[in-house]
Amino acid sequence: MDGGMAGDRIEALIAEMTLAEKLGQLSMLAASLVVTGPVLPGDPVDLMRKGRVGGILNTWGHDEIREAQRVAVEETRLKIPLYFAVDVLHGHRTIHPIPLAEACAFDRDLWLRTARESADEATRDGIQMTFAPMLDVCRDPRWGRISECAGEDAYVNCEYARAKVRGFQFDAKDPQRRMFGVAKHFVAYGAVTAGRDYAEVDVSRRALHEVYLPPFKAAVEEGVAGIMPSFTDVAGIAMTAHRGLLRDLLRIKWGFKGIVISDYNAIGELIPHGVAHDMAEAATLALKAGIDIDMMSGAYEDGLPVALERGLVTMDEIDTAVRRVLHMKEAMGLFENPLRGLEKISPGPDTIPEHRVSARDAARRSLVLVKNEGDLLPVSKNGSNIAAIGPLADKPGEMMGPWCMAGEEKEAIGFLQGLREGFPDCTVQHARGCPTDDAIDPGELALAIETARESDVVFLCLGEDRQHCGEAASRTLPRPPACQMELARAIIATGKPVVLVIATSRPWILPDWMVDGARSVVIAMFGGTEAGRAFADVVGGEWNPSARLCISWPYRVGQIPVHYGMRNTGRPHDPNNGFSTNFLDAPIGPRWVFGDGLSYTNFELGELRIDKTIAGASDIVHVEMAVTNAGGRAGEATIFLFAHDPVALVTRPMLELKDFAKLLIEPGETRTAAFALPVSRLAYPGFDMEPRLDDGRINILAGTSARRENLKSVSLEVQQRMTA
Ligand code: GLC
Repeated sequence: MDGGMAGDRIEALIAEMTLAEKLGQLSMLAASLVVTGPVLPGDPVDLMRKGRVGGILNTWGHDEIREAQRVAVEETRLKIPLYFAVDVLHGHRTIHPIPLAEACAFDRDLWLRTARESADEATRDGIQMTFAPMLDVCRDPRWGRISECAGEDAYVNCEYARAKVRGFQFDAKDPQRRMFGVAKHFVAYGAVTAGRDYAEVDVSRRALHEVYLPPFKAAVEEGVAGIMPSFTDVAGIAMTAHRGLLRDLLRIKWGFKGIVISDYNAIGELIPHGVAHDMAEAATLALKAGIDIDMMSGAYEDGLPVALERGLVTMDEIDTAVRRVLHMKEAMGLFENPLRGLEKISPGPDTIPEHRVSARDAARRSLVLVKNEGDLLPVSKNGSNIAAIGPLADKPGEMMGPWCMAGEEKEAIGFLQGLREGFPDCTVQHARGCPTDDAIDPGELALAIETARESDVVFLCLGEDRQHCGEAASRTLPRPPACQMELARAIIATGKPVVLVIATSRPWILPDWMVDGARSVVIAMFGGTEAGRAFADVVGGEWNPSARLCISWPYRVGQIPVHYGMRNTGRPHDPNNGFSTNFLDAPIGPRWVFGDGLSYTNFELGELRIDKTIAGASDIVHVEMAVTNAGGRAGEATIFLFAHDPVALVTRPMLELKDFAKLLIEPGETRTAAFALPVSRLAYPGFDMEPRLDDGRINILAGTSARRENLKSVSLEVQQRMTA
C-alpha cells in the first residue's frame, strides 16, 4: 500500500478510535517468557481483547505470537495488529559474544553480520523489534551493564551503532527478515554514579557532546527506528521527561522521525524521581517530552485521561503519538500481514546451521590474548595432558551472557567440551575446584590440585555467573570471589604452566600475583553458543587471536574511571615530580589499555605517512602505515588511528580514536593500513557545544593500541580558509 493510502487509513483509524483505544496503542505490556523488570498486575490477553495494548515484549515463538495476534485482529473492535519486541542484543536463539566482547573484534562487517543473523532468527519467531543496539559508553566495571555496550570509546560505539542498525534493519534482502532497532539508553546511562545501576548521572555538557551523545547521533543518521531513554536523570532532569534532549535535540535538531519508547515502568518512575506528584503528571511530562510508548507503567492508560481533564495535555498531543505508533506498524508491514515473517519452526543454532558456524567465528574474533609468556599458547595437540580447572571450566550456560533471551543453555558449548573436541589426542581432565562464589570445599580443592599436578598445562577458568551480570548487578569490587582466589593460588602453587581464562561480563580487578603466576591470560568474557569451540580454536592454534581490548582493565577499583582518552591536566604525570598527578598506591594507568591484545605472530610498523601536511576544513587527508608480519604465521593486525589536538579552546583528550582498520597479513608480507580522514572529524565541541575546528597543528598518531609510547605520528596543519 502506498504512503498516501496508508496515511489515509491511519487518519481514519485515529478519527474512529476512542480515548481508551488510543491509549492502548501507546501502551506496551510484558509477557512472561522472560522477566526484564518488575511484573505488574493485569492479564495482557484480557487487556488485548479490550484493545488496550499496542505491543508486547518478552514473548516469541509461532504458537504464542499466532494466538496473541489472533486476539488482536479478530477479537478487538478495530482489529489493529500488535507488534512484538524482545531484547535481541547479541543473538536470538543462536547467541553471539556479549557486545563488550564482540566490540573487541573491531570488525564492522562482523558486527553487521551478527545483527543480520539475529534479525533473521528473531523475525522467524514473530519478533519485529529489538531493544538494541545498546550504546551507553562506559568506563566503569562496577556497572553490570557495561557488558551490553561496545566499550570505553565514543567512536567505537558510533561504528558499532552504524553496523548494528544496518544489520538489524536494512541488510537482509527479504524485508520480512528485517527488524526495527531501538537504540538505548538515551543518554549517558553508562556514567551512573559509582557504577551503581539506576543511580543519578551527573555529567557535563561537554561529556555529553564528546562521549555519550555521538553514538546515538550515529544511530539516528543510520536510520534507527526507535530510541529508548534511560531510567536515569542527567544533571537532575529525568531522561524520561527530558524535553531538551528528547525533543529539542533528538527530534528537532537531529531530525529523528522514529518512535520513542520508555524503558520498563520508567514513566511511572518519574514519581519516585520526585518530578511528578501522580501518574497524570508523570504521563504529561513524558508525553510532552516526546515519548510515544509507555512500557509497562500504565501511566498513559491511567494518567492521560486525568491529564486531559486537568488540561495538562491535548488530544492532539495524544494523536501525534498514536500516529507515530500506527505508522510504525504500517512500516513493519503488520497491517498487510499481521503474522509477517512468522515461521512454524523456532530457528536456532541447529535449525540454521550456518548461524552456528558464524557464532563460532564471532566468538573466535572476540577472544583477547593479553599475556603469553614463552609462547605457551597455542598448546600442542600431540597427546599432552590438559587440565580444565575452575568454576567456569564446564559451565556452558554461562557463556550465553545476561541477555540471551531465547538462547537455549543446552545448545551452548563450554570450555571443557570445546577442549575435548579440539584436542582429541590429548587427555583433558576436569575439576571444578570451587563454586563460582561460595565456600570452598577442601576435598574439591584437593582434587583440583591433584588434577593440575597430573597435567602438562592447566586452563584455569574463572569468572562470573551470568545471573549476577548485566542489569541491577553492580559491584563495589569487580574481582574474583574469595573462593576463586584461593583456588588460583593453589593451582599456581603447583608450578604447572597456567593459562588464566577470564569468563566475565566486565573487566575484573585482578591481583598482581594471579597475573604474574599465570603464563598466559585469555580474556574470554561470555562468547555465546559456540564459546567453547572458539576458545579451543584459539588456544589450539586454529585461529590466531586477533581481538584487541575495547575497554581498559584497571589495576585497582580506586582508579575508576580510567581510560585511554584522559586529559593531560596542568600537572601531567611525571615520576620525578611529586607535584604531578599520580596515585601513591597504584600506577596512574590501567593494567591493560584500550587496544591491548596479542597475536601468535608479531607485526612491525612502518612510518606514518600523510598525503598533505596542510589542509582545510573540507579536505580529506590520506594517512598510511606499512604493516609487516614478521612472524611465522598469518595473522590479523588492528591498526588504530588517533588524533591529539595539543592546543585548543578547551582541554582535549591526549588521544581520540578517529578510525581503525584490520589487515590480514601472511608471514613475511607487508600490507598498508590506509585511512581517509575527513578534517571535519578532527573538530570538537566548542564553548557552545557546536563543532569547532581551530587553525593550527593537530597530531595524527597510529599504532596497535593506545599505548602512546608505541605510536607513530605525523602532524597536520589545519588552515580553515583553505578549500579543497
Ligand atoms: C529493562 C532494560 C532495557 C530493556 C527493557 C525491556 O529494564 O533497562 O534495556 O530493553 O527493560 O526488557
